[in-house]
Amino acid sequence: MAKILVNSSGPLHGEVEISGAKNSVLPLLAATILTDQTCTIEGVPDLVDVNVMKEMLTNYGSDIDDREKGVIRAAMKEVRCCEGKAELVQEMRASVFTMGPMLARHGKVIMPMPGGCTIGKRPIDLHLKGFRALGADVVEDGENERVIVTAPEEGLTGDAIYLDFPSVGATENIMMAATLAKGTTIIENAAKEPEIIDLANLLNKMGARIKYAGTDMIRIEGVEKLSGCIHNVIPDRIETGTFMLAAAITRGDILVKNALPGHVRPIIAKLKECNVDVEVLPEGIYVDARNRELVATDIKTLPYPGFPTDIQSPFMAFLTTVKGQSIVRETVFENRFMHVVELNRMGADISTENREAIVPGGKKLKGAKVRATDLRAGAAMVLAGLVAKGTTEISEIYHIERGYENFVGKFKGLGADIMKIEQD
Ligand code: EPZ
Repeated sequence: MAKILVNSSGPLHGEVEISGAKNSVLPLLAATILTDQTCTIEGVPDLVDVNVMKEMLTNYGSDIDDREKGVIRAAMKEVRCCEGKAELVQEMRASVFTMGPMLARHGKVIMPMPGGCTIGKRPIDLHLKGFRALGADVVEDGENERVIVTAPEEGLTGDAIYLDFPSVGATENIMMAATLAKGTTIIENAAKEPEIIDLANLLNKMGARIKYAGTDMIRIEGVEKLSGCIHNVIPDRIETGTFMLAAAITRGDILVKNALPGHVRPIIAKLKECNVDVEVLPEGIYVDARNRELVATDIKTLPYPGFPTDIQSPFMAFLTTVKGQSIVRETVFENRFMHVVELNRMGADISTENREAIVPGGKKLKGAKVRATDLRAGAAMVLAGLVAKGTTEISEIYHIERGYENFVGKFKGLGADIMKIEQD
């Protein structure tokens, strides 16, 4: 099993280039199912999850050309299979983002249930509620742990859909399904993440008629057909926040390039509350925590534009090193404190009660053997390892490689004493 070793590294310094957003490129690739023409997606990060999504598309019948670095050309000339591969869905739950486009394009999709993961049950009831509202027949085949969704002969019909929670995936799936439905679809209480807007921009380039993406009410007017397009993925706001925190936790200074400040406002605001200097420059976001008396602050995760749940664990790692107590509240996922046990192995002394963690702060962390319990918790352990005394050995790092491109290389470029080792 591969591991990451991190030694106490001192203040990081330099500049880092942010890659394309994992949580945008995955629905963008799924959307290529909606046309028989070629879609060219540029700015694609080299991630395990992107490879899984390419396999999902190929399995359905797509011709994928990924010879050019950072570019994927996908053409679903005809759908040859309408069943998601179970092993791929288990590996990456974002495979379910292919349901909406498959339903719209092909009229039927069979999807193995994605199952939960360490951060929560992660049901897809809101996705299915949307498909039903568009006229689809949804059979939840519990025995075979799969769901079979079939559009009527005459195709899907637009409708108004209220999301009980502004689910990112459900918003994206329903938006994609509605592009080829007859009539108009309104998604109420829609997710407002930047990735939703990026997807709507791609779909409109393909000929869809989507308005108000990025607000809590999205309007989709169905069209007959969609065509190919060329689209560049937005930068990854979670990777941006991760490297902003790398400067903060090591008391260094980093210029985070190719980042969109408008997508990370809560992180900028919270770091400033901790007395970290954050400047938005033409070439990127400059974070400077050198020689500054940092103070504690509380964070509460919320759907966008609130504080992002994906930055909760990296920010918590930072708060363990800041003088003063902090309260961290997780409101999006029901079990996203798995990293607390791992940080406590390093001496963080955090206590949790339901969805609230009390971080005493002011700790001198010590290196330990820890696990990456999810993608973002893995990043949190790397950040903690940078300032812990001695060596931190992080296992289960496949989580990290799912969502961060060249993670170890980028930290090395900032002066981190970090390496990946292959161990049987
Ligand atoms: C997306 O997951 C992201 N993944 C997640 O990033 C991110 O944490 C999450 O949005 C929230 O921002 C991708 O975009 C690939 P949700 P998604 O549907 O769409 C409940 C990472 O680390 N819910 O907004 O699955 C659900 O249980 C990953 O990059 C339902 O109850 O998130 C959760 O509590 C982790 N029923 C809440 O909504 C549903 O049908 C938010 O889930 C769907 C969701």
